[in-house]
Amino acid sequence: MKRIFSGIQPSGNLTLGNYLGAIKNWIPLQSQGEALFCIVDLHAITIPQDPASLKSRTLEVAATYLASGIDPQNAIIFVQSQVPQHAELAWILSCLTPLGWLNRMTQFKDKAGKQREQAALGLYSYPVLQAADILLYQTTHVPVGEDQKQHLELARDIAGAFNRAYNQDFFTLPEPQILGIAPRVMSLRDGTKKMSKSDPSDLSRINMMDSDEEINQKIRKAKTDPEPLPESVEELTTRPEAQNLVTIYAALANCSVEKVLEEYKGSLFSVFKPQLSELMISVLAPIRAETKRRLQDKNELESLLRSGQQKASEKAQVTLKEVRELIGFLS
Ligand code: AMP
Ligand code: TRP
Repeated sequence: MKRIFSGIQPSGNLTLGNYLGAIKNWIPLQSQGEALFCIVDLHAITIPQDPASLKSRTLEVAATYLASGIDPQNAIIFVQSQVPQHAELAWILSCLTPLGWLNRMTQFKDKAGKQREQAALGLYSYPVLQAADILLYQTTHVPVGEDQKQHLELARDIAGAFNRAYNQDFFTLPEPQILGIAPRVMSLRDGTKKMSKSDPSDLSRINMMDSDEEINQKIRKAKTDPEPLPESVEELTTRPEAQNLVTIYAALANCSVEKVLEEYKGSLFSVFKPQLSELMISVLAPIRAETKRRLQDKNELESLLRSGQQKASEKAQVTLKEVRELIGFLS
């Protein structure tokens, strides 16, 4: 039986990267096993968050999950901080994680930047909390975008460390699932940088809540090169911006990059971009409308999350009870 877990931080506007790299690929998995989709607010506070925005973004992520096709009948949607076992297991795992492993994490290096001494302890131990999220449910499969590969390898290593210390077969080793055609969506301003919620330039990303007008404008302004689209995928590898836009098109159209090139080889971006915008709007506008509709009833959303909390808690308690026994804590 597959157990699927993934999460997104409510730390900014959800982007097309979150959608194509994560949420979209979760939809078919819901029917393949037990699935939990979390809103990871404990992770979000590893960088300062405004309390009012954190609250509204938490609901917005929940609404986007639902609007994108996550079905609460088939999957558990819940908020990480409402299931305190995440934090408890994170502490336990942090006692088994060598600093040397954390020192290799590139996301910490990127996020901490030059101010390493000022960075919070939580930002540093972020991947341990992520490992706790996953291991708490004895997860078998973790569908994520490509940037999370290193954190998932660490989660496997931490599971191994616990198993060696306490019981060879206790934690299931989770498999990363890096799915879809666009596991790494790049910035619209720089094809060598990841599209990110936290980029200072809003023109660098498509937000899930952007209007049709904003999508048109951002695609029109997206950085490109003066060449027409090539015939082969190989010719795209030296043209990061062109490669990114063609890959986004393919992911939205559910077809291969080859197929897109077959249709658009020799076309200039002045021809390709309006087609891309049109396709993007046809996919995102209905999700945006449904997200807005869901957000009108906050009570309904909150009660749905409470029911997710209950279901997740039951499972979390089972694991944690066994963990406490293995460690030698009084029950
Ligand atoms: P985050 O926004 O960092 O909480 O990321 C949540 C999920 O979205 C993770 O599975 C990420 O790998 C995925 N993700 C975020 N940005 C991108 C991107 N630019 N391309 C593909 N996947 C992404
Ligand atoms: N660290 C992930 C990200 O930023 C979010 C996340 C937290 C996550 N816990 C997780 C993803 C557990 C998968 C499984 O993208």
